[in-house]
Amino acid sequence: MGDDGADLPVGHAVRVDHEPQEQAAETVRQLRALATPGGAAALSRAATLLAGGADAVSALSRLRAEVGTDLAGPAWGIARQRQKARPTFGADADRLLFTGDTLEQAGRPVLADRRAARLLAEGAEAVADLGCAAGTDTLALARAGARVVAVDRDPVARELTRLNAAALGLSGVEVLDADVVDLVASAGHGAVAGCDAAVLDPARRAGGRRQLDPDRWSPPWSTVTGLLDRVPVGVVKVAPGLDHDRVPAGVEAEWVSVGGSIVEALLWGRGVSTTWRRATLLRDGRFSEVTADGDPGPAPVGAVRGWLHEPDPALIRSGLMSLVAGDLGATLIDPTIAYLSSDGPSTSTWVSSYRVTEVLPFNLKKLKAHLRTRGVGRVVVKKRGSPSSRRPSPGS
Ligand SMILES: C[S@@+](CC[C@H](N)C(=O)[O-])C[C@H]1O[C@@H](n2cnc3c(N)ncnc32)[C@H](O)[C@@H]1O
Repeated sequence: MGDDGADLPVGHAVRVDHEPQEQAAETVRQLRALATPGGAAALSRAATLLAGGADAVSALSRLRAEVGTDLAGPAWGIARQRQKARPTFGADADRLLFTGDTLEQAGRPVLADRRAARLLAEGAEAVADLGCAAGTDTLALARAGARVVAVDRDPVARELTRLNAAALGLSGVEVLDADVVDLVASAGHGAVAGCDAAVLDPARRAGGRRQLDPDRWSPPWSTVTGLLDRVPVGVVKVAPGLDHDRVPAGVEAEWVSVGGSIVEALLWGRGVSTTWRRATLLRDGRFSEVTADGDPGPAPVGAVRGWLHEPDPALIRSGLMSLVAGDLGATLIDPTIAYLSSDGPSTSTWVSSYRVTEVLPFNLKKLKAHLRTRGVGRVVVKKRGSPSSRRPSPGS
């Protein structure tokens, strides 16, 4: 492993001329070495160097001298992944192992906990985590008390899940090498892989690019619908941009936002679904939800009034904006644009409110001149449904 490889996840910190299978075997070997007492000491040393601001070249040369060539690169790679994981995984990040790929694919533990609680509330005892990667859902399910069968066809993912469950002292986790497509095809009587519930999180990226076509996910859309049909106590993570027309009848679709962005979309099995659509928002550790048992239709359209409201994206994507608009006495400013307007401000968690001081025709030149006349300095331009790619320059 050269110095350049040190910036890469463990899984790539090997000679580039290895076959994928050999690379995976080498990564598994490195992960196992890191799980030994010597590996733990190397990880701790790498974390200290990283926290002290050491650059990769000097950190690696010190690590090689202190913990040996074999452990130095992998320990540095994991220390870097843990640093990235800390904002979402909290204190657990320093006990878990991730490769760059598995961390990129990992969901938020707080949402995995919520998912686990909802499945177990249906009486599920054993849950299959279909496509476990580094085990985010497996860990949440095991912590919630479920027996878990964690499935992945990637040996690195399986090793990570096994080691991560052990690192958190979680028992009741079985790790299985299987193809999820086959498991779902042979599922029956409400069970898959010997479990009475399932979480499926298809890989929606390939070659570093997002796969927009659900038929190209891995496993593909046919496996998603197969699971929803065969295992009623189940949930599938899907792309937030999923077309509403794809949502099967009787399946609840949920969009979840954190910090003003959609972070998850879920399809709940018919044994768990309680509504048609759900918008969920997590703010300051608290969940807010809006649900509807049927399509509430669009909000009415009206003129721009004293206040403009920008709805949360989960509310928009779920098709439930008209419910909040009704609560606020607000109307859409245009049938195709998701801005609401009303006479007064709102304290609703579902919208950000802005006071309207003037309404001007859309003309960037005039807007720029207008802002200059008013002595406006920095400007944040919020636009929706506008073809503008320019904005008034700061200070104008
Ligand atoms: C998006 S990741 C799962 C992320 C995980 N839920 C988390 O939050 O950390 C998808 C996983 O599914 C696995 N996978 C994809 N297709 C599969 C298949 N047909 N059979 C088994 N595993 C598969 C991939 O190897 C990958 O680890």
